[in-house]
Amino acid sequence: MTVTGPATGSPYPPKSFLLCSPDHFDVTFEINPWMTTERRPDRDKSWLEWNALVAGLRSAGATVHHFPSLPGLSDMVFPTDVGVVTAKRFVRARFRHPERSNEAEHGAAWLLEHGFTEIPWPDDPALYLEGGDVVRFGDVLLCGTGPRTSPAAAEHLSRVLGVEVVAVPIVDPRFYHLDMSFCPLDDRRALYAPAVWDVEGQRAVEKLVPEPLIISVDEALTFSANSVVVGRTVVMPACPPRIRTTLEDWGFTVLLSPVEEFLKAGGGIRCMALDLDLLGRA
Ligand code: ARG
Repeated sequence: MTVTGPATGSPYPPKSFLLCSPDHFDVTFEINPWMTTERRPDRDKSWLEWNALVAGLRSAGATVHHFPSLPGLSDMVFPTDVGVVTAKRFVRARFRHPERSNEAEHGAAWLLEHGFTEIPWPDDPALYLEGGDVVRFGDVLLCGTGPRTSPAAAEHLSRVLGVEVVAVPIVDPRFYHLDMSFCPLDDRRALYAPAVWDVEGQRAVEKLVPEPLIISVDEALTFSANSVVVGRTVVMPACPPRIRTTLEDWGFTVLLSPVEEFLKAGGGIRCMALDLDLLGRA
């Protein structure tokens, strides 16, 4: 089902997301430091949190599409990772862990059925790319590298999308995707935790973002950076008070949408909402 987004005349780019319902959500393997098969998500709570997130994104003005998962695809509730989508084209993920590799096919099938065109990969099996590592800031893409995405994939993205891609090497395994430590707010501002990147990445981001909201590792551990922005609303799984104060001073509204069950798999809101036009402009 689809609900139309912002009213005409909105000054902000329209936002469309694809979410995957938690029909088959579970923690059945451990591929990041957050996951343990000893602590499984509760089915009813997962549905409540997921439905609230869909409603929250829509109330903020986004268009939300959703599709069901398949049996066995227990991490499919994080469709952001299935690829990089912009201007009706997409680059399919190449997952680092075989446990997730079938998700790329399922996500791509939805995109192809809905009129998106696939940009093929060069035939190089050594490349990895997961969508959670790719974040937009202004006209540039930032690409986390190391735990999940290969530096060569960042170069490939730049070539095929014709945009500058800045690689940000991640050194703290708890923040294995860049979207766990960097959240763009608008063309001048972003919230981020530089302590989890190497020095080269820190310098690159410092040069790029005129007005940063630098957060500590502890603040990032709440998944506060794993948020999405719709107009001036920041839809967040958690928001420590200091972060909220700055966001509100800057004119943003914080919409909290807790996703505790999904955090058990190491994913938050940005992982759950695939941006269907990452580089989109109004
Ligand atoms: N369990 C998933 C994994 O380890 C979580 C994905 C989080 N996604 C994200 N975009 N940060 O791959």
